[in-house]
Amino acid sequence: MEIKIAVIGGTGVYDPNILSDIRNEKVATPYGEVELKIGKHQGRLVAFMNRHGEGHSIPPNMVNYRANIDALKKLGVKNILATAAVGSMNPLMQPGHLVFVDQFLDFTKFRQQTFFDGGNAGVVHTDMTEPYCPGLREILSQAAQSQGLTYHNGGVYVCTEGPRFETAAEIKMYRMLGGDLAGMTGVPEAPLAREMEMCYAAIAMVTNFAAGISPVRLSHQEVVDTMIHNGENIRKLLMQAIEQIKDDRACSCHSAS
Ligand code: HPA
Repeated sequence: MEIKIAVIGGTGVYDPNILSDIRNEKVATPYGEVELKIGKHQGRLVAFMNRHGEGHSIPPNMVNYRANIDALKKLGVKNILATAAVGSMNPLMQPGHLVFVDQFLDFTKFRQQTFFDGGNAGVVHTDMTEPYCPGLREILSQAAQSQGLTYHNGGVYVCTEGPRFETAAEIKMYRMLGGDLAGMTGVPEAPLAREMEMCYAAIAMVTNFAAGISPVRLSHQEVVDTMIHNGENIRKLLMQAIEQIKDDRACSCHSAS
């Protein structure tokens, strides 16, 4: 049976408890070996990957994004549901809300952004007009709606280099530029998935108001605590979304260039 669906668990989503019959798998890629889990949900095989490694040991700026996406491609994955903890700079997007991101602004600095490094790998300029799969976003919105969760279908994700949080002035600037949310991992994960012509959706959970908006100093513990507090909502959402993913979606993610 093919593994067409993968979940990338971000901060606070470490447990593949959406799945049964779980086995460990190691996938070799030119960028390094990737350890992940493969299990079943409603008779379908699903891959589960911890973005930050076992015990949250890999910071966002050190994640081997190319190895992770290449490993999923090698397994045959066509659809990626990726969770992400985010800080909000939009007063309408509040802690505990879900946002199914539809655009990003990239402020990362030192990351490998492409599989196409020139030479034998070639040079490719991928269209990124619509960086997230609109079909998966619709499935997530319907699932969130039917479960009575507070969600936003669309939002602009600002990817920062991290691992530090932003300054208050940076958040003010990102807001002026049209950002809604700040996170540290969405880029290059989303564009690499598009280079590999896979559908990719980000399930952003607002864990805090961003720097200068939040009345308190930011801490990783606050982020993890909010994710764990909302873990059951994310789990149910993932399960329902996985059930709804069909093979015949009319999106253009699978013809990227
Ligand atoms: N900024 C960047 N990344 C984050 C935040 C934040 O405020 N909260 C959770 N991830």
